[in-house]
Amino acid sequence: MEGGERITIERITNPGDPRIDQIQALLAAEFKEAEVDPPKVMRAAIQGKDNVTGSEVPTYIVIAVQNENDKVVGAACGAVLEKKNEDYNPIGNEAVILGAYITMEDEYRRLGAGTLAFNLRMAEAQAEAARKGLKPVAYIAEVVDNSEAFINSQGGFRLYSKENDGNYKEVPYLQPPLEYDKNTGRPTARAGTVPEHLMVKMFDGSTTIKGETLLEMVRAMFDYNNYREEGYFNNKRAFNQHSRIISNIEEELTEAVSGKTLHMISRADRENLASQGITFADHTTNS
Ligand SMILES: CC(C)(COP(=O)(O)OP(=O)(O)OC[C@H]1O[C@@H](n2cnc3c(N)ncnc32)[C@H](O)[C@@H]1OP(=O)(O)O)[C@@H](O)C(=O)NCCC(=O)NCCS
Repeated sequence: MEGGERITIERITNPGDPRIDQIQALLAAEFKEAEVDPPKVMRAAIQGKDNVTGSEVPTYIVIAVQNENDKVVGAACGAVLEKKNEDYNPIGNEAVILGAYITMEDEYRRLGAGTLAFNLRMAEAQAEAARKGLKPVAYIAEVVDNSEAFINSQGGFRLYSKENDGNYKEVPYLQPPLEYDKNTGRPTARAGTVPEHLMVKMFDGSTTIKGETLLEMVRAMFDYNNYREEGYFNNKRAFNQHSRIISNIEEELTEAVSGKTLHMISRADRENLASQGITFADHTTNS
């Protein structure tokens, strides 16, 4: 690292690893509380288990970045998810690599460690996919406003449809609530629907993606991040309510992207095109 400090970057696979608590604290400091799972959920997830029901889920990949004193100063998390069709059934062996979180402590930013953590997460995800006989076709992440430049540097881009007037409109992505009341099936007070930027990198080098393909990838995320099993709720009505919230969001996204070709455009390319008079309607987020 710059300044000569030795940094280590490594995947955590042992559920008893004490670094999990440090990672959870780091994520909780950077992201909204309702977005960050407590350590016991992460401990189950890195073994491929759901903390509440014990059922099998995609293995959570957790990367720790440590400084010379072994303090955790950065983390990246993700998973390999099977793409899902409209009925939420897998599509052949096609998968998508989810970038769930990545963060570095302030004083360790812009030193290249984020890139190293991103790369190790990707390599571990590819190895995980190979073990499961899955073929990852893309990387996908829900991204806040000010992380676009970093994700661009890793080959991931925001998605835009070209409108009839030649101008571009970003995919209006809404992240469904991540936490639900077990009795009502409604989002808990600290959780809710959050507008975010979807960012994608296609592994075949494509710079466009069909709306339908994007939906297959988004369903994989919803299935993993947002849908809870019936056993999570105290009654069936609550389970149905939470399902309705997510399927309504999916329907809105389907209307926005079906039949469209989506263009992956970096911030630099947008600025270039804007200087030629082309306009971009960026999706508004709270971040
Ligand atoms: C995103 C984050 C993890 C990047 O980590 P990092 O260690 O600073 O990243 P790197 O040093 O490897 O940066 C790689 C490249 O990304 C781009 N980049 C990263 N941060 C940037 C910034 N703030 N502004 C502009 N470009 C940036 C640059 O091109 C950089 O290369 P350069 O330094 O040679 O110019 C870190 O900024 C962070 O923790 N942000 C807050 C949390 C967050 O928003 N996470 C992403 C949620 S999806």
